[in-house]
Amino acid sequence: MQDVWLMEKMAHFNREFIPERRMHAKGWGAYGKLTVTHDISQYTKAKVLQPGAETDLFLRFSTVAGERGAADCERDIRGVAVKFYTPDGNWDLVGNNTPTFFIRDVHNFSDLNRAVKRDPQTGRRSAQNNWDFWTLLPECFHQITIVMSDRGIPASFRNMHFFGEHTYSFYNEKNERVWCKFHFKTQQGIKNLSNEEAEKINGMDREFHGKDLFEAIDKGDFPKWTMYVQIMTEDQAKHHYENPFDITKIWRHAEYPLIEVGVLELNRNPENYFAEVEQSAFTPAHVVPGIGFSPDKFLQGRLFAYGDAQRYRLGVNHNLIPVNQAKCEVNEYHRDGAMRVDGNYGSAPAYTPNSAGVWSAQPDVMEPPLDLDGAMYRYDPKDDPTDDCFRAGGDLWRVMTEDKKQILIDNNTAGNIAPCTENIKYRHAVHCYHADHEYGERFTKAAVLDLDKVIELSKLSNWELNKQTT
Ligand code: HEM
Repeated sequence: MQDVWLMEKMAHFNREFIPERRMHAKGWGAYGKLTVTHDISQYTKAKVLQPGAETDLFLRFSTVAGERGAADCERDIRGVAVKFYTPDGNWDLVGNNTPTFFIRDVHNFSDLNRAVKRDPQTGRRSAQNNWDFWTLLPECFHQITIVMSDRGIPASFRNMHFFGEHTYSFYNEKNERVWCKFHFKTQQGIKNLSNEEAEKINGMDREFHGKDLFEAIDKGDFPKWTMYVQIMTEDQAKHHYENPFDITKIWRHAEYPLIEVGVLELNRNPENYFAEVEQSAFTPAHVVPGIGFSPDKFLQGRLFAYGDAQRYRLGVNHNLIPVNQAKCEVNEYHRDGAMRVDGNYGSAPAYTPNSAGVWSAQPDVMEPPLDLDGAMYRYDPKDDPTDDCFRAGGDLWRVMTEDKKQILIDNNTAGNIAPCTENIKYRHAVHCYHADHEYGERFTKAAVLDLDKVIELSKLSNWELNKQTT
């Protein structure tokens, strides 16, 4: 016991683990910069998006379902979280490599993660749980089509696009608001892995994507993405044929073209994985003047979840961890709390309003007011009879070449859903059939189902279909 260094070593070792992220636990990060090459100042006054602006950033890629030790090359969506260290404070864009999401109701979020993660009895991942949940919510259909397509396992993080997914807002110097979506297109070209290639790689190197990113940056082969935005005016939004704030819908590019903004480059590896990657903390709640939120209820739910998760995972002062610190003065005037290791605002008053003239609110950086009308109630998007969950998935099917269709149906969906019970397969077949008859017929054949039954079931409402296939 007198060997106090030994006691210290053992005690520290026992406490070295911190909770992993509840989802997106496995990830890799790098630093870089955003260079704005085009002029979108008519839409936003954000300094980070003004022509010629160069802003440092930290970016973390992740898978969603796997735990911290999971293999990189799994069939899953990839998270892409970016922290822009802007002159007005941090702007975090926390997106994925798909333009839409599975669900749109915050209530379904924890359930989605429980369905794709481990079964409470067996402790194993379960295709049955996964597909059961997905197919009971028809709005998942577009995202399922993407995940089961050739893009479901990217060859590397460098070879995929990424998106903000939600509708956000911009406002300009005149405080005029537009709605916007963010897109980042890889300059390395899209490359994907087949199931067989991924299985082989996972067997040999579970950290394959992390290694690829680190080594590319290490040898000066800096990956780049071209940044674009789509813009919708408030008036267009009022008359849009779908809910423009529904994350399971896309805005068609022909109607809302991509507007080029600049180039995002990754050019520096972290020095220490735990300090910089594991302790990085992103939240969609971090916006800067010129960039705002929207009435997307799913986004609204996220505005709480991330900070809350980080207060648990890293502590109440997680924004003071160097990778998370803004590169400008921050005047949030929070005090004290575990691991407060800076000057804690010294002797400045701890309250506001005060006569010292500090911590006063800045109305000039507020988002412009938003007019709202309509009934307030616990709205379920499925209550909307005009809602079409299958159009976007059908559009995607129709632009696929024959080889991509084969990969989607024969290589991926049929194999992935094979362990599930027949009721779930029928539910998915009906959704495919709604999206495009050919899509439905081909899945029905690949899953060895009865097409007449699929056509009969396709005449039912969603509620009746779910009842008959449960
Ligand atoms: C209501 C829906 C959602 C909730 C409640 C939610 C919640 C969370 C939470 C609690 C974390 C862990 C945060 C941490 O421990 O630091 C997380 C991580 C993440 N989420 Fe979400 N999420 C939602 C939807 C989405 C959507 C739609 C996207 C993409 C557009 C997304 C992208 C990510 C990414 C990329 C990460 C990892 C961030 C990192 O690298 O640290 N999430 N989410």
